[in-house]
Amino acid sequence: MEGNRYLTFALGKGRLARQSLELFEKIGITCEEMKDKETRKLIFVNEEEKMRFFLSKGPDVPTYVEYGAADIGIVGEDTILEENRNIFEVLDLGFGRCRMCVCGPKEARDLLKKREWIRVASKYPRIAKDYFYNKKHQTVEIIKLNGSIELAPIVGLSEVIVDIVETGSTLRENGLEVLEEVCPLSARMVVNPVSMKMENERITRLLRMLKEELSIR
Ligand code: PRP
Repeated sequence: MEGNRYLTFALGKGRLARQSLELFEKIGITCEEMKDKETRKLIFVNEEEKMRFFLSKGPDVPTYVEYGAADIGIVGEDTILEENRNIFEVLDLGFGRCRMCVCGPKEARDLLKKREWIRVASKYPRIAKDYFYNKKHQTVEIIKLNGSIELAPIVGLSEVIVDIVETGSTLRENGLEVLEEVCPLSARMVVNPVSMKMENERITRLLRMLKEELSIR
């Protein structure tokens, strides 16, 4: 993969980044210096492949990719939907599978059914708004939070939440349940529209290798 410029990848910090690197290793792309847990470096280079990798907070990945600071990003579909950036979504990587759901105490089921005016806490105000206003045609108040969303109905900040459910154990341990499913989610690869044109050959080749590895046609 000799090119004059580096192909830059933005990876959402945490499990997604680890799974992405494992996947890249399987197709022969490694980045040894990224495995060093002690390092304070922010950007890692694979000179041979002319590739650079950096880790960022999930919601920042679509931003780096839209502005072209990264050619390619790997991030959860939840973040892509919420950020609504001008980027191409090119591949479902299959890992990071979970669901976006409306959750709350079981008593809230009735409020949803009757389309009552309720407060909805979420880290994903755009997704929550789209679901309630455009899909359900229900007027609600959206309250933006930044984490531990399950707290909101417990302490009386909201009647329900819109949040990610993976194993369901956070809900169970806090006496909450899934009331409605908004959509399924998984990790996605996204590409800057200009990079897609300028680096088409390298990106297409990478996509072909990844699809082969993931057994996608
Ligand atoms: C996410 C999500 C839920 C939890 C769901 O939170 O917001 O709280 O994981 O996973 P589970 O169904 O397997 O229990 P995260 O750990 O990312 O942290 P946050 O609460 O700060 O957003």
